[in-house]
Amino acid sequence: MRFVTLLLVLIAPALAFADDSPVAADAAAGKAVYSQTCIACHGADGKGAIPGVKDFTAKDSPLSKSDAELVINVSQGFQSPGSFMAMPAMGGNPTLTETDVRAVLNYLRAAFGK
Ligand code: HEC
Repeated sequence: MRFVTLLLVLIAPALAFADDSPVAADAAAGKAVYSQTCIACHGADGKGAIPGVKDFTAKDSPLSKSDAELVINVSQGFQSPGSFMAMPAMGGNPTLTETDVRAVLNYLRAAFGK
């Protein structure tokens, strides 16, 4: 595990330089994941398309939580105390990877975050 981490640290800068625009690529990937898997419940405007889904654009929105917490909650599913509807693990799409989850979270912050 430590070796893998070291390897990632060593090759990450090389990968970043290999791609002209890693941030733009990530944002595009995140938007694609959002439109395919998340939009039905969260809505194109991030305000929530169905009752029980929280507004990402609100001041006290779930996006005020840390990336670490949100990656876990999106990956494993999440239900807040007293909520009548749960966020399904991976938005109900088991083919998503952790990279997809991180990309879509970046997209959420860029598109709807304060
Ligand atoms: C079937 C409907 C549905 C789909 C599809 C869905 N969500 Fe959710 N999501 C919810 C609901 C409902 C909540 C609020 C759960 C609660 O607070 O109890 C939620 C909450 C969240 C939260 C806040 C979690 C927290 O810690 O407060 C994030 C971030 C999120 N969703 C991201 C996503 C992403 C990214 C996708 C697509 C990969 C997605 N959702 C797909 C219904 C959905």
